[in-house]
Amino acid sequence: MKPIVYLTKKIPKDVEDYIAEYCEVRKWEGTPPIPRQELLMQLQDVDGLLTTGGSIDDELLEHAPNLKVVSNVSVGYNNFDIEAMKKRNVVGTHTPYVLDDTVADLVLALMLASARRIPELDRYVKEGKWAKDNDRSLFGVDVHHATVGIIGMGRIGEAIAKRAIYGFDMNVLYYNRSRKREVEEYLGVKYAELELLLQQSDFVVLMTPLTDETKHFMSHDQFDLMKESAFFINASRGETVDEEALIKALQNGEIKGAGLDVFSKEPVDSDNPLLQLDNVVTVPHIGSATTKTRDDMAFVAAKNLVSALKGEEPEHLVKEFKLGK
Ligand code: 8YV
Repeated sequence: MKPIVYLTKKIPKDVEDYIAEYCEVRKWEGTPPIPRQELLMQLQDVDGLLTTGGSIDDELLEHAPNLKVVSNVSVGYNNFDIEAMKKRNVVGTHTPYVLDDTVADLVLALMLASARRIPELDRYVKEGKWAKDNDRSLFGVDVHHATVGIIGMGRIGEAIAKRAIYGFDMNVLYYNRSRKREVEEYLGVKYAELELLLQQSDFVVLMTPLTDETKHFMSHDQFDLMKESAFFINASRGETVDEEALIKALQNGEIKGAGLDVFSKEPVDSDNPLLQLDNVVTVPHIGSATTKTRDDMAFVAAKNLVSALKGEEPEHLVKEFKLGK
């Protein structure tokens, strides 16, 4: 008998066919995301779950007595309650590497869009406000040769640094839990203590994963340290930032602007003050969302799912589930 898997996300047909060679596939066909209660009901006899985002916690696991693997179609796995999963011998997998360049591209896009005021000026042109000459009130800020401070020098951080250095001649500072001397050597990025990075950067890019330690990593004190002329870019998770503190910093001119892919609550509420600010560029958590990258992520997630159900160690088992952790 084939193991049963449940897919909460729509994935390409060839990827679904690949899973179906080894598994009985059931899936959510409604508008995503699947309602929590519906998911809990579906999990009763399911061996594997392919999903993103929703909490894999005690409540869910109690509804899924046969579950062996949760395969996230994302690199982030802050939705995993690792202890609860370990207690029940459920492993978790994710999709690193395939999205690094795509997310890094979006970070550069947010830097450029906020510094050069692209969405604001796009509206200006389309609303017919472009008179004869562009006055200084439309001018932006240079990205090239500026200093970018990257918080979280993982693979995506590195891909951002490459673009910043080779594409824009930028000076790159980084802060990370551990120093990355090999990256310092091959790219010429400089390690800086957090305080210094915040004080010196023209762009502060937050790329750290969300953990108990990084929740509200950026709050009042950190925004206070940033230059009034600096931009804040977040493509990690919304909860790494104290959003109220960010709103205050933007409203009071403590920082110049922000480019945001992620929010404390997603989808973002229409009355969120961030949406009223011209100096904030927003996109709807689309860091990895190009067709090719999302398809690649689905395939990586499918392979992780199938290999776990075959009793093998999946290629991208989350590190906390590896032996000895
Ligand atoms: C996800 C992301 O795909 O990989 C991550 O951690 O944030 C995105 O690439 C997103 O969570 C939606 O599925």
